[in-house]
Amino acid sequence: MDTSNWIAEAREGLRELATDDIRESGLLPGDGNKFFPVIGYPPLTMFRDMDQGPLFENLDLRPASPTIAYAHIPFCPSRCTFCHWITKTKSKADAVDEYLDHLAQEMALYRSNMGVDAIPARSVLIGGGTPTYLDPKQMERFLRDFTRHFDLSACSQFSMEAEPTTLLGREGLEKLRIMKDYGVDRISLGVQSFDDDVLGAMGRTHSNADTLESIRQMRRAGIDNIAIDLIYAYPNQTVEQWVEGMLTAVSLDIESYQLYRLRIRQHGDRQGNILQVQQKKPDRFPKADEIQLMKYLGIMISERHGFDEHQTRIFARQADDISHYLRDWCCDLTDVTGVGVSAWSNLRGVFSLNEGDADLENYYRHIREGRVSVNRGKIRSADDERRRCFILPLKNTRVSKRVFSERTGEQVEAAFGPQMAWLEGLGLLAQDAEHVWLTRRGRFFADEVATQFFDPNYLPFPEVVRAPDGLPA
Ligand SMILES: C[S@@+](CC[C@H](N)C(=O)[O-])C[C@H]1O[C@@H](n2cnc3c(N)ncnc32)[C@H](O)[C@@H]1O
Ligand code: SF4
Repeated sequence: MDTSNWIAEAREGLRELATDDIRESGLLPGDGNKFFPVIGYPPLTMFRDMDQGPLFENLDLRPASPTIAYAHIPFCPSRCTFCHWITKTKSKADAVDEYLDHLAQEMALYRSNMGVDAIPARSVLIGGGTPTYLDPKQMERFLRDFTRHFDLSACSQFSMEAEPTTLLGREGLEKLRIMKDYGVDRISLGVQSFDDDVLGAMGRTHSNADTLESIRQMRRAGIDNIAIDLIYAYPNQTVEQWVEGMLTAVSLDIESYQLYRLRIRQHGDRQGNILQVQQKKPDRFPKADEIQLMKYLGIMISERHGFDEHQTRIFARQADDISHYLRDWCCDLTDVTGVGVSAWSNLRGVFSLNEGDADLENYYRHIREGRVSVNRGKIRSADDERRRCFILPLKNTRVSKRVFSERTGEQVEAAFGPQMAWLEGLGLLAQDAEHVWLTRRGRFFADEVATQFFDPNYLPFPEVVRAPDGLPA
């Protein structure tokens, strides 16, 4: 099927989903031009000043949950125009070593505050930044420290993020072999686009040929679970280019991919340059209807090639290949021990956020003083917990009514009955005796529907039409 046929079919599919009705109902922020991805609840913007105190206080008395682990490595070959993460570019080896020293100390601080010899983790993500920016010696040292402080004996998946140029050549292969030896069994590669011009505009240092070679390198090193990240709705990107990109993605020797809609506004402490680009050249950015078309094409081309959407926007041939870290976090609502600059943790009812200043000296200061680098957080209220236990599974897979009431002591219907009825009426949500889930139409607007269950004080776009909450005014 050629590109124009894919596009014509996608237009037809969108008509069947009647997405225009949803736009007209006022449920989409900025009429579909604005966007807020729901990756946690409450959102980080609701965290307030807090030190490590509440995170570790009376830990033994608080109900325990399974834990997953995250470590942030804030170094990259270049600063991508779209990126809002905390990272530094072209860092010298001694600057990286200094960070790894502090990171190891922070892991030890977590361990002693939690009163364990090693922190159990049922899945792991090493992210960034670009963890594979480390050279082979640094990688070995980091993984030695990490596997000493975390107990991975019951870990189902050890995932690491990577950028293509960092995996090339002899050094890249050596690094990959070290990763494999320490148990890394899944790599998530930042590909973003298969078009060299788009990659250049994004400020990436790799070409499409580098991407393909880095995938071959991972296979040579015996990595058998490869995921890639792609971005759509990038300035100047056409719908035709996106179709070509998707057709390339489904033909690659990979297990899964995640499709990210370009996020223009920051989600954490740092605002990427893309906002300035938008302010200067707004016309270059795809509009809401083109973005919807790209999103639909992503789903349709994936389904037709055996890549199912196992978690919202995450496509894989087999369910078990997706990120266990994200699955545990979003669907099983696990605790998280997060180390490194800008990392967050979730420990027995308390969220914490580490220092997020790009000046690493601020991160080091806490550790030198013998504390983990937490500077913000949130002790979850019963209402925060009720909403979190509904929002994250709903957005990503489905809510089990039994699990919800075990966790919160309430029935789903009592907590969210009027909102659910309203969204059912719009054809966005469905339920039976056991579960609540998003319909195909609802899944298409997963972030917007999830936001409907936010506390009214936490809304990213307060102007959006709200479902009635049934509470007296
Ligand atoms: C923390 S990044 C790490 C990946 C790796 N450093 C790389 O870029 O090669 C994880 C993914 O988030 C996605 N991402 C980052 N900034 C984004 C933005 N502004 N909008 C949409 N997706 C974004 C990208 O697809 C990226 O691969
Ligand atoms: S997208 Fe990845 S490589 Fe680019 S600056 Fe962000 S973390 Fe670094």
